[in-house]
Amino acid sequence: MSTSPEHAATGSEWWRTAVIYQIYPRSFADASGDGIGDLPGIESRMDALAQLGVDALWLSPFMVSPQRDAGYDVADYRDVDPLFGSLADFDAMLAAAHERGIKLIVDLVPNHSSSDHAWFQAALAAGPGSIERARYIFRDGKGENGELPPNNWESVFGGRAWTRVTEADGTPGQWYLHIFDSSQPDFDWSNEEVREEFRSVLRFWLDRGADGFRVDVAHGLVKAEGLPDYTPPADGDSMGGHEPVPYWGQEGVHEIYRDWHNVLAEYEGDRVLCAEAWLPTLDETALWVRSDEMHQAFNFLYMYAGWNADAQREVITESLRAFNSVGAPSTWVLSNHDVVRHATRLAVEFENAQGAGIGPNTPGPRPDAALGLRRARAATTLMLALPGSAYLYQGEELGLPEVIDLPDEARQDPSFFRTNGERYGRDGCRVPIPWEPDAPAFGFSTTGESWLPQPPEFVEYARSVEEKDDASTLELYKNLLTERRAHGLGSGTLTWKETGSATLLSLTNADVEVVVNFGADELLVDAARVILSSEPLLVTAENQAKVPTDVTVWLHA
Ligand code: GLC
Repeated sequence: MSTSPEHAATGSEWWRTAVIYQIYPRSFADASGDGIGDLPGIESRMDALAQLGVDALWLSPFMVSPQRDAGYDVADYRDVDPLFGSLADFDAMLAAAHERGIKLIVDLVPNHSSSDHAWFQAALAAGPGSIERARYIFRDGKGENGELPPNNWESVFGGRAWTRVTEADGTPGQWYLHIFDSSQPDFDWSNEEVREEFRSVLRFWLDRGADGFRVDVAHGLVKAEGLPDYTPPADGDSMGGHEPVPYWGQEGVHEIYRDWHNVLAEYEGDRVLCAEAWLPTLDETALWVRSDEMHQAFNFLYMYAGWNADAQREVITESLRAFNSVGAPSTWVLSNHDVVRHATRLAVEFENAQGAGIGPNTPGPRPDAALGLRRARAATTLMLALPGSAYLYQGEELGLPEVIDLPDEARQDPSFFRTNGERYGRDGCRVPIPWEPDAPAFGFSTTGESWLPQPPEFVEYARSVEEKDDASTLELYKNLLTERRAHGLGSGTLTWKETGSATLLSLTNADVEVVVNFGADELLVDAARVILSSEPLLVTAENQAKVPTDVTVWLHA
């Protein structure tokens, strides 16, 4: 028996089916030799990205920033931080991408600026009641002398979400809201000047040729009227939450994206807005991609689904249903710069909340690296068979694991400091990636400098090593992308096949059948039907290919 097909939403825009590769600029390739990756470094590796076969790049922020949250604290939205290069370097890198038919998506951070931003500095200088302060969320404190914060909100990175300023005359003054670090003051999006400024920032990058934006914290811009107290549940996810949260997912944000939709529509080509919105359900996530709002939203429920047949089937079915109901493609993602890399995460057998990270003293067994990689390869082989658009995070195509043994002194994530080391944070997935086995910093930088130390085992994952090995993760990703395109899977229609087994998952999309074996027993398939598999398969004398546990195969349907 087969169940009803799950259609991909239709439409010809490139982003509906695109495979989009996330570059974390500071860790990709460092041309200047200072240990921090840069735009000329990205340009110099553009051929490798073209060979991988991705349709588009998304670059995490490279704008002017004091780097207190690795660039997610922007001090000037219209210029490149000298650490990463210049606007001319951006133009050259964009041209190099476009020459190869690769699109480029810029990361926009509209929820907050850096406290170094000229507007915030002006707000501090101008004092209470000024138009400068009205661009941010300044409030008088509670208590007799305003010594208590205006409400009880906690920062996502730990500690309170308010910081008290010292007024120009030296007296303790008002408090400002920062949902993240104290160096990231939240804008007040009820202020028309803020709205106009961001329309203009969108145009700045669109005019330069950017193909779209990944919108940071897209569920956070509007806060509930009156800023009511809110205590997150102890076991809750600080970026989402399962009950109404006064700073996440407020109805008023949608009007902002309808406005941005219209700005993008003025431009030629299909420019795209992708929401980073951590929401408790897929139906809520779909609200961000109604036809007059954004175009894509990250599918974090898929990312965190359990590695078993039931959970995978359910989240895939629900994703296609929810996004299809608003005419949007589903997106798929397994790793990014905020979560434990999936080559490690899929072997973690203890509770590990988003943002907690894994470090040398994390309680519980150390994740089994071989098991994690095997599952990661199987998970990606399933993901890239699904209709819609998929996001990859730099280094996953090499099978990189999370770096667990970073010394405390090397850590840089503000959440590590704001929780006094209780959370290791996100540095373990941000370590600069290896290109060559024998070069300084494994070819990441010319000098051997690297802003986070690379572990010696990165030598095995170096791109040039994997290029020579047919069984490597890199070669698997290249095959997946080639075959995904050849079979039109991005725009295909998914149909589940009943397997009669709780540990086997089977679906068809276009002319490909995909089978995932989650069980202990080997599955036999006709070897002549195999298009590719997440691990090399042994073939019997009868020409049957053996599909062991934690392996995904693509077969001619
Ligand atoms: C987003 C980014 C994350 C950053 C935070 C604050 O979640 O992905 O890296 O720390 O927003 O801007």
